[in-house]
Amino acid sequence: MSFGSIILLFKQQIMKKILAFGGSSSKHSINKQLATYTANLFQNATVEILDLNDYEMPIYSIDKEKENGIHPLAIAFYDKISEADFLVVSMTEHNGAYSSAFKNILDWTSRYNNAVFQEKSMLLMATSPGARGGSSVLDISKNRFPRNGANVIATFSLPSFYENFDKENGITNKDLKKDLLQIINSIEL
Ligand SMILES: Cc1cc2nc3c(=O)[nH]c(=O)nc-3n(C[C@H](O)[C@H](O)[C@H](O)COP(=O)(O)O)c2cc1C
Repeated sequence: MSFGSIILLFKQQIMKKILAFGGSSSKHSINKQLATYTANLFQNATVEILDLNDYEMPIYSIDKEKENGIHPLAIAFYDKISEADFLVVSMTEHNGAYSSAFKNILDWTSRYNNAVFQEKSMLLMATSPGARGGSSVLDISKNRFPRNGANVIATFSLPSFYENFDKENGITNKDLKKDLLQIINSIEL
């Protein structure tokens, strides 16, 4: 084994693994952008970004489950969460609630194991182009996810995404960036 591979193996063993995703199937998801940016602000961690498109399944129904069992992509989603030490999730708001893409994954996975988030600690976020920054879906998720096994240790909403975030610099509003950094610094992975 080369010196480089030994270092890599060592790093993988001591570094915590953050799994991040946006609650959306949009190719340009602003929530995926925010989750990716935030996960990468943590020190001494490896980051994996999930794309919900990789977990697209037929719309959940009890009949489909009875006919074919639990969809394998729901098990794959559950297994990804198993591998993580910490979750950074930014929720998309559609009509005041979860996107259908996310809700479908949650429904399927909860049929495999209701504790979808497996007692993992989570930084739960939301953003939207509007001034409320996805606060409705953030509230819904904050109240619901613990019932699906999430340990939500902090929440953050980024209002008016396009005024407060740019692709190169991330959060551009100084006060909002300070708030997020304070949250991140308070989290021990
Ligand atoms: C069907 C639909 C419903 C929406 N409903 C809301 C809403 O209730 N509140 C809100 O702030 N934005 C709403 N929006 C705007 C989304 O916040 C915006 O499209 C955002 O980019 C979605 O997040 P994403 O880019 O991570 O998918 C809605 C958009 C769509 C397409």
